[in-house]
Amino acid sequence: MTKTQTISMTATGPEAASSTAQFLTPVVLGLQALAVNGKQAHWNVRGSNFIAIHELLDTVVANAQGFADLAAERIVALGLPIDARVSTVAEKTGATRVPAGFAQWQDEITAVVTDMDAVIADVQAAIDALDETDLTSQDVAIAIKAGLEKDRWFLSAHLAA
Ligand SMILES: [Fe+2]
Repeated sequence: MTKTQTISMTATGPEAASSTAQFLTPVVLGLQALAVNGKQAHWNVRGSNFIAIHELLDTVVANAQGFADLAAERIVALGLPIDARVSTVAEKTGATRVPAGFAQWQDEITAVVTDMDAVIADVQAAIDALDETDLTSQDVAIAIKAGLEKDRWFLSAHLAA
């Protein structure tokens, strides 16, 4: 005779889950927007630094997608859903600075770094708040911040004197 054992869907309590969803959802949406707008910059960049910036922007996009996955899956691992539909991303994230058409590499970098700074501010808010409610989710936010700040450096170094 087989015996079915009942297990809880999550190991972490509801307060930690709701706090994680509250603070990591804006991070997920911002990163998804960064991935889309980073591609826009990747395609339309022009000028003397074309190939370096074109290729670096693909790395920024791939990392943003990976970070979004990390944050979204932390929310879902705690038992809550994530709404990251394109319409929700558009509604909840600010307008990008990335231009609609061709732009010089300096302008593309400035735009993408400005977009990254908005995401980094949300990540910092998550780090601060999750310190009280879920240290594992805070660890996820800290890892994302470190990665974003590295990519920010790689981009902004092209403009440094
Ligand atoms: Fe490409």
